[in-house]
Amino acid sequence: MRKTAIVYYSLTNNTKEAAEYLAGKLDADLYQIETIKPMPKGKGMQMMLGGMKATFGMHPAIKGVSDELTEYAEIVLGTPIWAGKNAPAVNTLLKSKEVREKITAVFTFSGGGDNDKCMAGLQKKLPNLKHTVALADRNNKLASENERKLDTFAEELLNGKR
Ligand SMILES: Cc1cc2nc3c(=O)[nH]c(=O)nc-3n(C[C@H](O)[C@H](O)[C@H](O)COP(=O)(O)O)c2cc1C
Repeated sequence: MRKTAIVYYSLTNNTKEAAEYLAGKLDADLYQIETIKPMPKGKGMQMMLGGMKATFGMHPAIKGVSDELTEYAEIVLGTPIWAGKNAPAVNTLLKSKEVREKITAVFTFSGGGDNDKCMAGLQKKLPNLKHTVALADRNNKLASENERKLDTFAEELLNGKR
């Protein structure tokens, strides 16, 4: 059985940077999910299209993950919050029951600092979810807490294995 995988989606690299930081702490393998159809470049279009896709729980075609994910002992999931929910690309990942069952930990990024609704939605979908951490976009003053929160999250995960 392989070690831990960190699987994440990230449009503006907040989630990506946190995933890379965690991978170092956990000695985990990293998988970045991307949508096959790229998002538009402009922020306004991104908000409109992304917000609509998230609101309606759409499942865009994705790349970056493969069947080997199910070979890991556990999976950590990272997602930005879009319209109060996880990014649509994550819906596609979570279509797999085997993947859902392997996810034990989730970290989320929000622009406004409110991650609760998204986390509650993921709690319902992920039967083995034990560890969560809510992080703030680098443009939010709450982001100064991110590193400390990630350290605590990583410690929890490592302790869970000991
Ligand atoms: C389409 C879209 C919808 C968003 N909706 C929300 C939201 O409902 N609440 C919130 O706090 N932030 C929202 N944000 C902001 C992102 O959650 C935030 O910028 C996050 O840090 C982005 O992570 P990333 O850099 O990994 O993509 C939204 C961003 C986008 C692009």
